[in-house]
Amino acid sequence: MNTGDPSAIGGSEGTADPRGLGTRLAHTAREPFANRGFVNTPIHRGSTVLFRTLDELEGAMQVNTRTGPYTYGLIGNPNSRELERMLASLDGAAGAVVVESGLAAVSVALLAALKSGDHLLMTDSCYGPTRYLCTHVLAQLGVETTFYDPRAGAAIEALIRPNTRVVFLESPGSLTFEIQDVPAIARVCRARGVTTIIDNTWATPLFFRPIEHGVDLVVHALTKYQSGNSDILLGAVSCADDAWWRRVKTTAEAHGHYAHPDDCATCLRGMRSLEVRVKRHEASALEVARWLETRTEIVRVLHPALPSHPDHALWKRDFTGSTGLFGCVLRAHPSGRAYKKAFLESLRLFGMGFSWGGFESLVVASDVRASRIAPPFPDAASNEGTLLRLSIGLEDPRDLIADVSGALATAVARFGAAGGA
Ligand SMILES: Cc1ncc(COP(=O)(O)O)c(C=O)c1O
Repeated sequence: MNTGDPSAIGGSEGTADPRGLGTRLAHTAREPFANRGFVNTPIHRGSTVLFRTLDELEGAMQVNTRTGPYTYGLIGNPNSRELERMLASLDGAAGAVVVESGLAAVSVALLAALKSGDHLLMTDSCYGPTRYLCTHVLAQLGVETTFYDPRAGAAIEALIRPNTRVVFLESPGSLTFEIQDVPAIARVCRARGVTTIIDNTWATPLFFRPIEHGVDLVVHALTKYQSGNSDILLGAVSCADDAWWRRVKTTAEAHGHYAHPDDCATCLRGMRSLEVRVKRHEASALEVARWLETRTEIVRVLHPALPSHPDHALWKRDFTGSTGLFGCVLRAHPSGRAYKKAFLESLRLFGMGFSWGGFESLVVASDVRASRIAPPFPDAASNEGTLLRLSIGLEDPRDLIADVSGALATAVARFGAAGGA
């Protein structure tokens, strides 16, 4: 495997497109007349790429692996490059690197930026497997992680050590939905020479563009909204500048990461309708969330676009919309797990399962008390009941509300109302 001469890799793709996001979603990353007029690029499966001459082969190894000739399936194919072009355009990035899952994108971004002896500041609200990556894999490689309060903002500076290389953000936080002051953290990090990486899966580039706020690397679990159909796994890292793109790309290659062309084409197909879908997810989620706020069985709703959310002002300042994922706390009940089980198992439209961002609504119950370590967790609020995460799909929101209402009624009929209700 040869990744080409890094000095020959250059050029930016996403920064100059003045067109609206909807237009870019429809028109970026396809070349019909290079493909016999077909609107969508055919799928290019393959490992080997043939060269007619030795000069061609040697020349291909020396040029930009983002725009130059293809060399080997692992390094890129027309479908992965198109998806990368689309992401770079939406993110205003110099380039993007697609890999086989959102978690692979998290690990590639971190491994591109860290080495043995480094210190990492990781938000305490990170996605669970990201936490595991830090506490097990990175720890074994000699990288020390400190989990910080996601609401630290500019106070993150006090946690930066001489060997701190990366601050990793995720906003809103997984399960608990804290909004981070991304510009404040990015400003501090820029001044201190610390790299920033954000998991921006919740917002998608439609509603938050971290590179515009000074972040270096943006991680996407394309498995969620970009794909939109719960049928593939895929991830990407968008890079603020070309040097970062080179580092992330070579790190991905060195670890043998790869995004299958079928999955890239499927994801790009999903992205053509991303704006329409996400706006529907947004509207329905707000409708369900507002309804939940009126229910006595629910202690609180964790949705940053609701004025009741403690970080609503920050969300309003930095984001241009919200998506379909939010949390709520099902009031603690004397019957404990049996009450929760009755509620969850009585849902007919909401599936119980992991992941989110698909057309179908999902719910999972979780308990963050065992894993969260940075203040203010664990706190009194986390003992109020069961933390639920709802992914609102594309169903009619009135049916979703009826579904939750019916399941609550079933649980209450069986076990009585929870205290305080
Ligand atoms: C916030 C966040 N980031 C990353 C991932 C990982 O994505 P994938 O399932 O594609 O590995 C997930 C998955 O649920 C997630 O919720």
